[in-house]
Amino acid sequence: MAKVITIGLQKGGVGKTTTAGILSFMLAKDGYKVLAVDMDSQGNLSSLLTQQEDDHFSEKTILEAFVSGEAAPYIYEVNEHLHVLPADDFLATLARFLYTEYQESNKSLALHELLAPLKDKYDYIIIDTPPSLSEPMVNAICASDYVVVLAESSKWAFNAIPRFLDTVAFSRENINPGLKVAGILRTMNDVRRADSKAFVEVIGEEYPELCFDVVIRRKASTGRISLEGLYENKELSKALDQYQDFYKELMDRVKNG
Ligand SMILES: Nc1ncnc2c1ncn2[C@@H]1O[C@H](COP(=O)(O)OP(=O)(O)OP(=O)(O)O)[C@@H](O)[C@H]1O
Ligand SMILES: [Mg+2]
Repeated sequence: MAKVITIGLQKGGVGKTTTAGILSFMLAKDGYKVLAVDMDSQGNLSSLLTQQEDDHFSEKTILEAFVSGEAAPYIYEVNEHLHVLPADDFLATLARFLYTEYQESNKSLALHELLAPLKDKYDYIIIDTPPSLSEPMVNAICASDYVVVLAESSKWAFNAIPRFLDTVAFSRENINPGLKVAGILRTMNDVRRADSKAFVEVIGEEYPELCFDVVIRRKASTGRISLEGLYENKELSKALDQYQDFYKELMDRVKNG
């Protein structure tokens, strides 16, 4: 049965998609069967992992999966190990669909229901989320076994963490009792800036149990995977090296948790 992991924070631009993409890629490289689910209408995870143009998935996205009640026809196979359930801008209409046409009473479990028939086909399902606590984010949290909280080392990301953890706790208490926080991953650490270093420390002191030891640095080669992709990228090992330790720590927590 697949372990479902959401990468989230309602703050934008903290490295959610980069982390979700790299994690999916590394798991697949390791031989696991992975489904990467794009719950963000920006569609960045879809484009990072499939390297297709934005309009490639027009009317063949997770939104159509929700409407038809079946995800399998909309899964794009990158290779044998890595599959993607893509999104495009129209996913922004998900809430309207849920509150007007979706028949089930619990609107927060729509993704859970959609993924249920797929769980025996994958080892891991990795969900990327949008920068808001809206329906796609809540659905991702309610569909997950684990949440990885992404915290850029900045004040606004730091300020977003309590409300995000409250949302996770609410989901655990009311909807998804098995849900765990795998940890807080500090990202975008700009080693030249004192304020960035300070927030790495502040977040570490505030959440000592939850923080992963590894801190992801702001690094040009990691940022450039949005341009160069993950497949024919000459600087790939340089871009991914700082994620190796995160991968090990996460696997430890998920396997032992
Ligand atoms: N470690 C890093 N070093 C340098 N640049 C990075 C790093 N991680 C991500 N980036 C770049 O920073 C930008 C934001 O990253 P990303 O899109 O992964 O964040 P996000 O949290 O998914 O954003 P959104 O909330 O808009 O979905 C992107 O241009 C990405 O390429
Ligand atoms: Mg993103």
